[in-house]
Amino acid sequence: MATVEQDNVRAAASRAPGSGSTTTWLKRAMLFCAWSMGIGQALFVLFIALFYYPSTLSGNFARWNSKPLITGFQAGDGTGNAGFAIHVLFAAIITAAGLMQITPRLRQRFPRLHRWTGRSYMVAAIALSLGGLWLVWVRGTYLNLAGAVGITANALVILTCAGMSWRYALRRKFAQHRRWALRLFVAASAVWFMRVGYMAWGITTGGIGIGERMDGPFDQFLAFGNMIVPLLVLEAYLRAGECGDRRRLAVAALLAVSGIVMLGGSAAAWFVMWSPYI
Ligand code: HEM
Repeated sequence: MATVEQDNVRAAASRAPGSGSTTTWLKRAMLFCAWSMGIGQALFVLFIALFYYPSTLSGNFARWNSKPLITGFQAGDGTGNAGFAIHVLFAAIITAAGLMQITPRLRQRFPRLHRWTGRSYMVAAIALSLGGLWLVWVRGTYLNLAGAVGITANALVILTCAGMSWRYALRRKFAQHRRWALRLFVAASAVWFMRVGYMAWGITTGGIGIGERMDGPFDQFLAFGNMIVPLLVLEAYLRAGECGDRRRLAVAALLAVSGIVMLGGSAAAWFVMWSPYI
């Protein structure tokens, strides 16, 4: 019996399309990419916690406007200001909870914590998406149509991924849950990808294609690319396990380049977009 099983394992291994070393490179590249995102998003949380939390929780909403915004605090617009306040408070929660959810050690060691941060993450995803849609379409916070449509698509994808991920978790289908949870994490990170993307593009090209009202070709690309490109990279990674050596190495290289872009973009975002306002 034991030999039959061993034979099966050997046969399965010989059918596996990629070799061990490409799997190792893929894992390394993924780890590097995840660390780059982790560091960059931790900086984003730090900025929100140090800039928005003190001003919002103390009721000093006017201080939001010390940084460039489309529509931050507006005197007399109690509902709009409250909507913005809720949005920035949830922004730190979703970003911090997302990082906790994708950390394998936390997930394995503290499954109850994983379930609770998971629930908080879902609530924050729904609040940010629906609240964000209200800010855009009711408060009128957008600079151009591409930006408004892009972020609307983002909200719809976040809501879909949250629903699918929740559904599979309840049915205890954890392989599918993991895939949808990763898609949700990437979609909910799109606003962060946008900031980091602008910075990385600015450093490397000097800002070619960025319009004065964020209406240039690059702005229009990033309005959708901030979600679509990372989701495509994720899908390539999720499918890489079934591919041969060459494709695995190509995906590993893609992840490594993405990691470098995110590290550079995050550092620039910290120095240009976030730390000067803290
Ligand atoms: C899900 C993750 C999200 C996070 C972490 C997030 C985070 C933030 C942060 C930190 C701000 C303050 C602006 C800044 O200092 O950069 C903000 C503003 C805003 N967000 Fe979100 N957001 C998310 C999703 C969304 C969605 C899905 C929408 C729209 C459907 C949206 C619409 C807006 C709008 C309209 C503003 C005001 C921008 C301005 O006045 O300049 N957000 N968001």
